[in-house]
Amino acid sequence: MAAPRFGTNPFTLGVASGDPAPDGVVLWTRLAPDPLATDGSAGMPPRVVPVHWEVAEDEAFGRIVRRGTEPAMPELGHSVHAEVHGLRPSADYFYRFRAGAEISPVGRTSTAPDPRRRTDAVTFALASCQSWAGGRYAAYRTMAQEDLDLVVHVGDYVYEGRDTETLANFRRIHAQYKTSPDLQAAHAAFPFVVTFDDHEIENNWAGGVSQPDGEASNEPARFAALRAAAFQAYYEHLPLRRIARPQGASIRLHRRVGYGDLATFHVLDTRQYRDPQLDPGFPSAPLHPASADPARTFTGTEQERWLFDGLDRSAARWNVLAQQTIMAHFDYDTGPGVAVNHDQWDGYAAARQRVLDFVAQRRPSNPVVVTSDWHSSWVNDLTAVATDPTSAVVATEFVGTSISSGCGWADEVAAAVPHNPQVKFFDGARRGYVRCEVTPQEWRSDYRVVASAADTAAPATTLTSWVVADGRPGAVPA
Ligand SMILES: [Fe+2]
Repeated sequence: MAAPRFGTNPFTLGVASGDPAPDGVVLWTRLAPDPLATDGSAGMPPRVVPVHWEVAEDEAFGRIVRRGTEPAMPELGHSVHAEVHGLRPSADYFYRFRAGAEISPVGRTSTAPDPRRRTDAVTFALASCQSWAGGRYAAYRTMAQEDLDLVVHVGDYVYEGRDTETLANFRRIHAQYKTSPDLQAAHAAFPFVVTFDDHEIENNWAGGVSQPDGEASNEPARFAALRAAAFQAYYEHLPLRRIARPQGASIRLHRRVGYGDLATFHVLDTRQYRDPQLDPGFPSAPLHPASADPARTFTGTEQERWLFDGLDRSAARWNVLAQQTIMAHFDYDTGPGVAVNHDQWDGYAAARQRVLDFVAQRRPSNPVVVTSDWHSSWVNDLTAVATDPTSAVVATEFVGTSISSGCGWADEVAAAVPHNPQVKFFDGARRGYVRCEVTPQEWRSDYRVVASAADTAAPATTLTSWVVADGRPGAVPA
């Protein structure tokens, strides 16, 4: 690997860290001297380039504790995923990269707590849905000023275009988003734990099935190729561990991230293994009777077993299900009928009921579901029988609004909220994120919103705050 010479600094997409463990993190960057190059190469020649990384205890890099070199390979878009070990638990570190004579911006990261010791608090931001066209990125500008341990991003990190099909297309979209200084600032400030939803691939995709919006898009071979390209570009642009490197149209995203004895994040992938959607009606359609078919799956059988097994074994006080679409039942029909969004858990009602039955019977400690996808803020009770809001509350769901994507269906939701007592709060007008402060006694969710998704000078405020007490599912106003 020869040391390269660059005409311009190649670290135009910033740096990031992710998936913190007690002994380390994964560090990310991508060499991109010309990030929007039409061929998806980001201006890099088709050869391997060595990238050096350093981790230090101080921002001036006087006390470097770990260093190494990773090959940035053209087949992975010259991205770097450096897995660092040997760090101390619950500690802050600084990191940077070097390629040839060029140095990256400095990132800050933190390791997770030692699981054998008592952890008193973890604070994270729940983020999702950052449409480039929706305005960039007042929410990240605000978030980067917060005092957080990590950011949990549950999907729509980018939005595909109408003609996005190839790896070059997907790489250019990711690179474009990553040129946002505010998104870069948030990544440089905190480790991220990420999972995708639909728009990193295609709107409302389900397993091997593309959304039915035209003949070409329903061709399975075409969609498999698209899926492979989208998965690869996603991996190339996010701080994922190497186990997530895609193999063709397959990627392993579901995983657990532990925060000592306090919290375990069970990160789900409810897109890749789900059965086809029953009705594309938007934002709702009359309830399809097959949604109650127990043969239908939302997570895939293997991931469902993995989730239940993980909940059973978890010693954490709070068990966080970080996932994509709304889990609570929601009936859009304000009359005697029932209408649901079949892209959400409501379209897979038997699979959802299996999760709720498991929670009710096995009683994992404090299950809290954190959700994205619907570009609006919700606080929901999850009840023992999902469609019966008078049944016992067994878990809590916080749905975070979008960073920037719009909510054109807010009026339909708002009209139906009074008919859905399991929904305790709804707002479709504002963009932002949820700041979650978790202690052994209490979970607190502050819905942080910005006055304008695009105006980074506009102030951010807390729209509403909700708490869940240890051992008592269901949120109450703070
Ligand atoms: Fe979205």
